[in-house]
Amino acid sequence: MYLFKRKTDLKKHLDLVRKNNKSIGFVPTMGALHQGHLSLIQAAKKETDVVVCSIFVNPTQFNDSKDFEKYPITVDEDIKKLNTVSTDILFLPSVEEMYPDGPNGQQPHYDFGNLENLLEGEFRPGHFQGVGIIVHKLLDIVQPDQLFMGQKDLQQCLIVRQLLHIIQSNTKLVVCPTQREADGLAMSSRNARLSPTARKKAIAIYQALQKIKQNYGKGLLFMEDAHEAFDFLKNEGFDPEYVDILIVENGTIHKLNEPPAESATVVAAIAAWLDGVRLIDNIILQGRI
Ligand code: PAF
Repeated sequence: MYLFKRKTDLKKHLDLVRKNNKSIGFVPTMGALHQGHLSLIQAAKKETDVVVCSIFVNPTQFNDSKDFEKYPITVDEDIKKLNTVSTDILFLPSVEEMYPDGPNGQQPHYDFGNLENLLEGEFRPGHFQGVGIIVHKLLDIVQPDQLFMGQKDLQQCLIVRQLLHIIQSNTKLVVCPTQREADGLAMSSRNARLSPTARKKAIAIYQALQKIKQNYGKGLLFMEDAHEAFDFLKNEGFDPEYVDILIVENGTIHKLNEPPAESATVVAAIAAWLDGVRLIDNIILQGRI
């Protein structure tokens, strides 16, 4: 695996790759890699000739400085894991390399419409602008044919899809299924911060989603189902932020208030705090992303 810390060196290398008519797949990450990330690399390896993974904990997407400080950094282990799936290139830039004027310097602003104010956007103001800024910078450097992201961060996938449209990029976004632990908990770098007791409890998020899925289609009680799941999580010791059943349509999301068309994509999404750790998950109820 090649390791680049400077964007000019990576760009030079990738120019040669392109000259040799090889396609480029890209998996952006913030490190603390787990099987979810590795499955994205594996999907990229299947679809493209040369796979680039980036590890960069992006300061502009953290609205909570404590969350940023606590974000796990495990570069040596990450490198070992990347080698197990034969990653071709790792891009490991510094903050100065990505933000020469500092993270508080002037940055572009993207019009993501209402998508950036809902769900994650409501509870993490500014988060999606930060994601847009860094993904745009990384895309300019890597210029991949295909970009691979995980469905667990569903709203982020929709934001990036809009970003690709806004910046008129030819890169194709591939959304890959959420990887789960044996008990159903969605894999996440944040899981490592759960105490053993909280880790056991954490499966309640998946159980709540499963319950919504089981009831889905049996009646039209979307709001009741969401409220029930919210209360269930509270009783399990969580502090839920949202439990919502949503329609994904025209690149954005709306709350589901009436029966959806058969062709619509409908998802249930949850964010909840447990043991000081914020967990998110979602499940597709009908259609596809
Ligand atoms: O999903 C993540 O890890 C990050 O939001 C991303 C896409 C790498 C941008 O920093």
